[in-house]
Amino acid sequence: MSNNTPIEAYPHFYKLSAARYSCRNYNREPVGRDVLTAVVDAARLAPSACNRQPWVFVVVDEEGPARDAIMKAYDREWIASAPAFIVACGNHAEAWHRPADGKDHTDVDVAIAVEHICLAAASLGLQTCWICNFNAPMVAEALNLPEEMEPVAVIPIGHPAENNIVPEKKRKTTDDILRWGSF
Ligand SMILES: Cc1cc2nc3c(=O)[nH]c(=O)nc-3n(C[C@H](O)[C@H](O)[C@H](O)COP(=O)(O)O)c2cc1C
Repeated sequence: MSNNTPIEAYPHFYKLSAARYSCRNYNREPVGRDVLTAVVDAARLAPSACNRQPWVFVVVDEEGPARDAIMKAYDREWIASAPAFIVACGNHAEAWHRPADGKDHTDVDVAIAVEHICLAAASLGLQTCWICNFNAPMVAEALNLPEEMEPVAVIPIGHPAENNIVPEKKRKTTDDILRWGSF
């Protein structure tokens, strides 16, 4: 085991992880609701603190005010190419807060669920992109989110455009990120 590279040790998971990338150019081919439902279903298997599952995923796959609001809330030309968006919403009232210091684990839980969604999409040849740099109040209002729900991430989903350039994976090395026993 110690001489194995990740691709030798866990080829299936490694290839899936490597296949997912942040896609910023889609081909507008619609993604069916059966596929969107299947992809969101992957979130249900995600772990969450105290199994609270403090999330709701709002899928925006039609023209209309919700889609328009997303375009405005993240004002970048490329997102208009996405045929659908999954808005991952975290429920602060439902999420576990660590008793010792009150730390709210909404973001942690939603992040895990979102990555399940992104990996499930990649397994189907679809791509996604995490977007957090958006105007959250604008999206919350457009989607009629209740007070306790926060839109944590907007995830465009679709088929990459034929001329899409896949971004290079720039990553720290294992030596950079791995410590044994103490920092
Ligand atoms: C929490 C989070 C927020 C992100 N927000 C944005 C964003 O607002 N806009 C964007 O274009 N990419 C965003 N990204 C994508 C990252 O830039 C991307 O994951 C990173 O550069 C690694 O590239 P890769 O996803 O292709 O492997 C975000 C990613 C994460 C995990």
